[in-house]
Amino acid sequence: PEAPKPAPVNKVSQYACQRRTTTENNNRIFTDAFEVLAEHYEFNDLQGRCLAFRRAASVLKSLPWAVRCVEATQDLPCLGEHTTAIMKEILQHGRSFEVEKILSDERCRTLKLFTSVFGVGPKTAEKWHRRGLRSFSDVLAEPGIQLNRMQQSGFLHYGDISRAVSRAEARAVGNIIDEAVHVITPNAILALTGGFRRGKEFGHDVDFIVTTAELGKEKSLLINIIDILKKQGLLLFSDYQASTFDISKLPSHRFEAMDHFAKCFLILRLEASLVEGGLQRAEGDSRDWRAVRVDLVSPPVDRYAYTLLGWTGSRMFERDLRRFARMERQMLLDNHALYDKTKKEFLTATTEKDIFDHLGLEYIEPWQRNA
Ligand code: CTP
Ligand code: MN
Ligand code: MN
Ligand code: MN
Repeated sequence: PEAPKPAPVNKVSQYACQRRTTTENNNRIFTDAFEVLAEHYEFNDLQGRCLAFRRAASVLKSLPWAVRCVEATQDLPCLGEHTTAIMKEILQHGRSFEVEKILSDERCRTLKLFTSVFGVGPKTAEKWHRRGLRSFSDVLAEPGIQLNRMQQSGFLHYGDISRAVSRAEARAVGNIIDEAVHVITPNAILALTGGFRRGKEFGHDVDFIVTTAELGKEKSLLINIIDILKKQGLLLFSDYQASTFDISKLPSHRFEAMDHFAKCFLILRLEASLVEGGLQRAEGDSRDWRAVRVDLVSPPVDRYAYTLLGWTGSRMFERDLRRFARMERQMLLDNHALYDKTKKEFLTATTEKDIFDHLGLEYIEPWQRNA
């Protein structure tokens, strides 16, 4: 009988939370193509196929080497027949015809255009497309279309908020929020999270956690911050969602369920004079300010570590943390808590490291979570 094969060294895990993925992507030609396909399947409501392409892209992003032939990928997880065929096409012809077909597909392009507006999701985009609308001017001229407040702001500030936010702009926004929270309480805790915490140079928004060291005091925090920003004339839009957090509830089984903490989705007016090196602006735009999308979430301080881990992302990293917890540890994880189903108890954490420890995972630094 054949001797059992020794376990391959440095085998790439199927879970993103067991891989270290920096912002350096050696396989962008493949992962960009996979993202086009993933989005195409998302628009066509084929979630399984969408996820398959997102997982494959995530694995390739983690590699410290560039794929030069498909044989080199045979020991990698999450790569199937379809993803391998696309890689082959790209390696042979420098591009994928399947991807190019999707990129030129009218429906796909229109849905992508519509969902690029703040407040417009796939369902609304689909509805507009079905009415025969193909451009922003079609939508804005169509009688009987009621834009909600978020969508109105989305169109109004479209140029600005579809332009990437730089790290210097994110820092300037951080200073504004920091000043506002410290007017309210000296015990404020403010942390930059999301893509910028993962070391990205550009983002589509800036994400912060704000809370206070006094449990319970966080309840009025966001409302007060919004009030101060409004008085300063910096608030272009705000959508506040009060907390619906219930400490007795088990963590959610759903992967992308929204958390229940108080949060707000803002558009802020950012002055050029506050930004080192100036604003990201379109050529010929001479205004001395731009609009920036900002998200704030405000958990009770004893849930800080779970919120920080949950809001740092990336989305694929979060998804796999939860999947790993459930499949490998019989635990339930979300942005609020970690529950051990075997011991029937909640596990407390004051740092992200505590949560990795509870899960029996090696600690992954924020800048290694770009899965
Ligand atoms: N998130 C969340 N609940 C929300 C909104 C966001 O848990 N209601 C999490 C997402 O899972 C994500 C992180 O917060 O991991 C940041 O979300 P987002 O700003 O959309 O993405 P970024 O990774 O910051 O990417 P970008 O730079 O494009 O903003
Ligand atoms: Mn399509
Ligand atoms: Mn973000
Ligand atoms: Mn965000």
